[in-house]
Amino acid sequence: MGDRLKGKVAIVTGAAKGIGFATAQRFAQEGAIVIVADVNPEAVKSAVAQIPNSEAHVMNVTDRASIQAVVDQVMQQHGRIDILINNAGITQDARLIKMTEAQFDSVIDVNLKGVFNCTQLIVPHMLEAGSGAIVNASSVVGLYGNFGQTNYSATKFGVIGFTKTWARELGPKGIRVNAVCPGFIATEMVKAMPENILKDIEKRSWLGRLGTPEEMANVYLFLASDEASYVNGVALEASGGISL
Ligand code: NAI
Repeated sequence: MGDRLKGKVAIVTGAAKGIGFATAQRFAQEGAIVIVADVNPEAVKSAVAQIPNSEAHVMNVTDRASIQAVVDQVMQQHGRIDILINNAGITQDARLIKMTEAQFDSVIDVNLKGVFNCTQLIVPHMLEAGSGAIVNASSVVGLYGNFGQTNYSATKFGVIGFTKTWARELGPKGIRVNAVCPGFIATEMVKAMPENILKDIEKRSWLGRLGTPEEMANVYLFLASDEASYVNGVALEASGGISL
């Protein structure tokens, strides 16, 4: 469709489904070589079959050895990693009173520590190149909190903390770090929510509907591309104005 990411190598975590898939697809349309890195092997296979110029990698963001293996392979084959999209995420919702320690720990492990793991293992290659763009998946829940999401909202606030810290540490080295805060987007994650709550969310968004994965992919594309060359350390809300 275009050449906004021509020749760039982009790793997208959690790229087999939902927003990650749409982002991988959009990046490939703009000329990137896209590394589809996801924990679900079947979904990785089917995603890559639908995205030309993409490569399949089964990777778990909680497992540093599996991340390192992907990084080594990509560096060996392409010699560069220009873009990292830290998109993989899960929910395990329960009210504070009912949340189990296992629910708390699993969400922290994937959504927060996973972002730390991937970024820490990839950034040395960006530092060597003196350039790079990192975009992290936060959420409106990482700006305002949400009923039943003690664990999830803490991770999404935390991701904004990472973003602002790394923007300071890495900006001077030519690496930009930003976050996207999607509102409620029609993916499997959101379809798991009760119907009446979804209807209420649609009403609260000033555009009167849920967002689409493709709309989020365009936000990731802007922040990852050179068009955002002076954008660093922002948490960009893309929610149809749900917080207004
Ligand atoms: P999804 O559930 O549709 O897809 C998530 C993907 O991540 C799946 O393919 C899954 O296999 C993969 N994944 C899960 N754990 C993983 C791990 N340990 N290692 C590697 N991959 C893993 O999710 P969706 O809705 O596309 O969300 C993507 C990101 O956007 C998440 O971080 C989510 O928290 C965030 N987000 C989503 C919103 C929404 O309304 N859907 C709103 C705000 C933020």
